[in-house]
Amino acid sequence: MIDETLVMREAAALMPTYARQPVAFVRGEGAALYDAEGRRYVDCMAGISMSNVGHCHPDVVAAIRAQAGRLINTSNLYYTEPMIELAEWLRDASLGGRVFFCNSGAEASEAALKLARKRGGPERAEVVALADGFHGRTMGSLSLTGQPDKQEAFRPLVPSVRHVDPGDLEGLSTAVGPATAAVFLEVVQGEIGVHPVPNAFIRHAREVCDRHGALLVIDEIQTGLSRTGPLFAYQAEGVEPDVICLAKSLGGGVPVGAIVARPEVSDTFAPGDHGSTFAAGPLVCAAALAACRALAEPALQEHVRAQGARLLAGLRALVAQGHAAEARGRGLMCAIDLPRPRAADAVAGLLAEGYLANNTSARTVRFLPPLVIEAHDVEGLVAALGRVLPPLG
Ligand SMILES: Cc1ncc(COP(=O)(O)O)c(C=O)c1O
Repeated sequence: MIDETLVMREAAALMPTYARQPVAFVRGEGAALYDAEGRRYVDCMAGISMSNVGHCHPDVVAAIRAQAGRLINTSNLYYTEPMIELAEWLRDASLGGRVFFCNSGAEASEAALKLARKRGGPERAEVVALADGFHGRTMGSLSLTGQPDKQEAFRPLVPSVRHVDPGDLEGLSTAVGPATAAVFLEVVQGEIGVHPVPNAFIRHAREVCDRHGALLVIDEIQTGLSRTGPLFAYQAEGVEPDVICLAKSLGGGVPVGAIVARPEVSDTFAPGDHGSTFAAGPLVCAAALAACRALAEPALQEHVRAQGARLLAGLRALVAQGHAAEARGRGLMCAIDLPRPRAADAVAGLLAEGYLANNTSARTVRFLPPLVIEAHDVEGLVAALGRVLPPLG
């Protein structure tokens, strides 16, 4: 499946921060990836919700080709039009304010944290985030991430971050007060295995933020741009956040992140407060604009709803047949819990069957396919799972 010399060269040349699956890809198209021998794999991860538009989407490829031959980057010392066009698109599609660009999800979390802290000033320096949430691995975003095992080796972290259990409305009321700069949350917590945060909790977060003058920041890095059905997951929750964080699928595969703020908080940053040399370059912005336009197509969102329902129904049937203990999903963001801690074996079994998935814990397998995945590949995934997961006997 993989040339062993590649594995050895990787181990000798790269820091061991990733537990890679034993496969190397050379080409991608739509929801499929191909290895050097031409074997087709159905990508049910989309690079952790990055290649949502599908691999090598023709509009993204054309935008990159056209822009690469004209101008790749200039830094933010100068004006370029693609970044303005992309910011206008994101503004009009979401909160109506202004945009700050960066290069990744962690950087988007950092930017939102800095914006909230600057707006709050020294008297309002506390931040509330959710237990089991994930916002990135840089020091600020790691401090927001509510997963102690990821934080342990890096303490002390950024101070004054409190974590509240999603669903604990009373705990949230206690944690948020006049010293709170912001509450950070995801509508669906992806990294711990696709757990939707209860709508009552999200609405309560809006209420307590309003009561105390804190910002509600919604991390749409994994859920955004039609992954769960609507363009942004918050749009189905009946709340309007003050800031959203975006990355992953935003670039159609190239690295770009952003925060969008509503107009009232869009003037918080002044020149020099924050920035990035690479960010908002014409190449990535041209690619991102093409990706965003494709991801916002109503027909694609309908496809996400239909294929998401198909996948969830298939996963629920596996539960009914005793192959799995529980199935969850929103749009094309799904997971199953296994009755035994065999998720890594299940992922290895799926790989051998030609399907890519990942395990978020010993018991949970997650599926985040490109949004263009077709019905026969969804059905193929469910059938492969039926073969790979032994029924509880
Ligand atoms: C919800 C959420 N926030 C932030 C991040 C961090 O994004 P990145 O890996 O681009 O830094 C991720 C990545 O998985 C994520 O899922």
